[in-house]
Amino acid sequence: MWKVQLFKLNYNEKESKAVKETVDSGWITMGEKSREFEEKFSNMLGDNIDAIALSSGTASLHTALLALDIKAGDEVIIPALTFVADINVVKMVGATPILADCGDYNSWNITAESIEAQISSKTKAVILVHFAGYPCEMDKIVELCRGREIFLIEDCAHAPDARYKGKACGTFGDFGCFSFFTNKNLSVGEGGMLVSQDEELTLKAKYFRSHGMTALTLDRHKGRAISYDVVQSGLNYRIDEMRSAIGLVQLEKLKKSNRKREVLVKRYIDNLSDIKDILVPFQDLKDVEPVYHIFPILLSSKIDRVWFINRLKEMGIQSSIHYPAFKDFTAFKDIGLNSAPIAEDIAQRELTLPLYPTMSLDEVDLVCESIYKILEVEREIL
Ligand SMILES: Cc1ncc(COP(=O)(O)O)c(C=O)c1O
Repeated sequence: MWKVQLFKLNYNEKESKAVKETVDSGWITMGEKSREFEEKFSNMLGDNIDAIALSSGTASLHTALLALDIKAGDEVIIPALTFVADINVVKMVGATPILADCGDYNSWNITAESIEAQISSKTKAVILVHFAGYPCEMDKIVELCRGREIFLIEDCAHAPDARYKGKACGTFGDFGCFSFFTNKNLSVGEGGMLVSQDEELTLKAKYFRSHGMTALTLDRHKGRAISYDVVQSGLNYRIDEMRSAIGLVQLEKLKKSNRKREVLVKRYIDNLSDIKDILVPFQDLKDVEPVYHIFPILLSSKIDRVWFINRLKEMGIQSSIHYPAFKDFTAFKDIGLNSAPIAEDIAQRELTLPLYPTMSLDEVDLVCESIYKILEVEREIL
């Protein structure tokens, strides 16, 4: 149906082999592969970082809030432009989500200034997102949060191995939360990773992941434990060995595939520079090494987005929206969310074009030619 689809897996026989070997090994729940995945992932991020593999990115965000004891009566500042998981986890722990606006129309990330504008005496934590894989301005945000004694959680779902001034995203705050959902730069289907440099927080999160138990099934299998204690309440947010095995293969591919994404994005930017009704954000940023998770563009307000999406579809090009505004979802219409004018405007006009590491430059050209035809030729005639 699609000539160019939004996303394709970067999988080959290596992932299949890893799953088969794991199944054949006879051990499929969280065990040694998962430990290896955690170790290699934390090594990629830097020294002295603990990593905990979990069943999803959402599980990692939820676990982070619980480990930090965020609860009813607390406010958590989150980006106004992000995936619904960020607001959901805040609501799930009973806290109040407060929205921080995008910095501007070039950098859609939240900033120290847009966070500071929302701080109150009830603010306990900030969850930021390195949108599309472009790191936030971490120096200023870290300074702000430390100065005000506010916890900082980095949602790095878009940003595995992205760096700010050479330091990996996920290592600036109290917790870094990664997603390995299907369309992510590192993809295992469903999975996540929580990272921290604080031993006490890490231990709490580890217990929480597995019912608050002090020993795993694997420990009993290996004869390392006969029984277990339960030291706190918890859930089952464990990953399994098949997904960790895929994660290890994907981790090996990550740097190369992130570089491939960069080449594709550069081609997009070159191709689209002549089209007047499109703005490509996140250009000329300083101090960052992005990982190009998605390729978002901003349409001029003169363009009817639904019409444009449908014309692209007729030409075989799949596109998507990152993200609709929270206030437009039924669940959040009446909860008194504060407004965030830039994010709300971007939410109306954003369009995400296809991007994945196995995409060819010809495919990028085809997407751009289709856009040119619709916006520069057809609209002249209309
Ligand atoms: C910014 C952001 N945060 C959180 C998540 C949640 O991750 P998961 O789907 O692994 O639960 C996603 C993924 O879709 C995301 O894009």
